[in-house]
Amino acid sequence: MAEKSPRGLADVVAASTSISDVDGREGRLVYRGYDIHDLAGRISFEECVHLLQRGTLPTQAELDELTAELTDGRQYGTAASALLPYVVGSGTPMEALRTLVSALSIDDPDAADMSIEADRRKATRLVAQMPMVVAAYEAERRGRELADPDPKLGIAANFLLQITGQSPSDRIAEIFDECLVLHADHTMNASTFSARVIAATLSDMHSAVTGAMGALRGPLHGGANEAVMKTLMSIEGDVANVDDFVRAELDAGRKLMGFGHRVYKTEDPRATHLRRMSEELAELTGNPRYYVMSRRMEQVVLDTKGLYPNVDFFAASVYHALGIPTDLFTPVFAISRMSGWTAHVIEQHEDNRLIRPDSEYTGPRDQHWVPVDQR
Ligand code: COA
Repeated sequence: MAEKSPRGLADVVAASTSISDVDGREGRLVYRGYDIHDLAGRISFEECVHLLQRGTLPTQAELDELTAELTDGRQYGTAASALLPYVVGSGTPMEALRTLVSALSIDDPDAADMSIEADRRKATRLVAQMPMVVAAYEAERRGRELADPDPKLGIAANFLLQITGQSPSDRIAEIFDECLVLHADHTMNASTFSARVIAATLSDMHSAVTGAMGALRGPLHGGANEAVMKTLMSIEGDVANVDDFVRAELDAGRKLMGFGHRVYKTEDPRATHLRRMSEELAELTGNPRYYVMSRRMEQVVLDTKGLYPNVDFFAASVYHALGIPTDLFTPVFAISRMSGWTAHVIEQHEDNRLIRPDSEYTGPRDQHWVPVDQR
């Protein structure tokens, strides 16, 4: 009989990877050997994509090459365009986007090619297409024309341009760029693990990332950032009401979204940067309400429950201040994480073995069949 495994596979090593590493005790996150504190605010999302998907921080020539490929690859074709009017207005944005991401394979010239070279091309295109698809979804549901990307801008600035209709200031674009870097990869999180399980059947890149979208959607994973914002907005009146709210939620046995982590036993290093950005945006926008509330909530939850904020907690007030609609917070997470998912699919395909764990059977034994009229 198989040994009993920990609930939720906690602490189980499910795969080998050279893409990212987390030290939960020290609160460290590393992308290919670089500490996230070394990278955050210093590299662009495009450089991060190169690091995750191609293994190194790019030289200028490599960055120019990747940028050209991303520009060429962002048109997502007729299938997703045709589906847009159907998926807008039914269900949540994450349901719609899961469908659109799946449809991207229909127009992908490498869809049927399972070679590693084709995986790399698909990975670049998916990263380029993801912000375009989210922006197109937003434009379609608002009945607006989608602004053309500005060739002078990177992925982060172009997305803000397309979502808000205005070119962001350099600093606002830098802040969002840093958000994309911070969310890009995080070892065997649920969506990445899902992508690797799918890839390990020798299924294709698009199937793997579509599965990952489904996993990311849940409130215990990427869906938490949206839930945090809804929580902050639901607390009326003075910031002092945060204390009562937190205690009432905990007394009722409910979880507070944006707190706790399976791996980190101390501060999530991404939260450190997002807290700083939330503070800066509070000053830049002249609207400190959600930053101040978040700081208070952080303190009360730490004092009463000993839980630290995770990546999703301060991401909520940051995205809100950037003008991103609340129900697009999780799709924005997906824009960034697409770089990590695709890097993991390539890595899985490069050295594949079917992922097929055992299970612990808890049902009855020694049952005997009887005809239906005698049961
Ligand atoms: N609010 C209140 N209590 C929490 C909590 C939270 N956000 N996160 C964990 N806890 C408590 C649990 O109630 C449990 O208490 P108990 O032992 O008294 O029953 C204990 O801490 C362990 O929680 P558990 O859910 O078993 O830990 P996990 O490792 O399975 O879960 C998360 C990790 C991230 C799923 C969990 O912390 C959570 O649900 N957080 C909120 C959702 C979220 O922010 N997700 C984004 C993660 S990046």
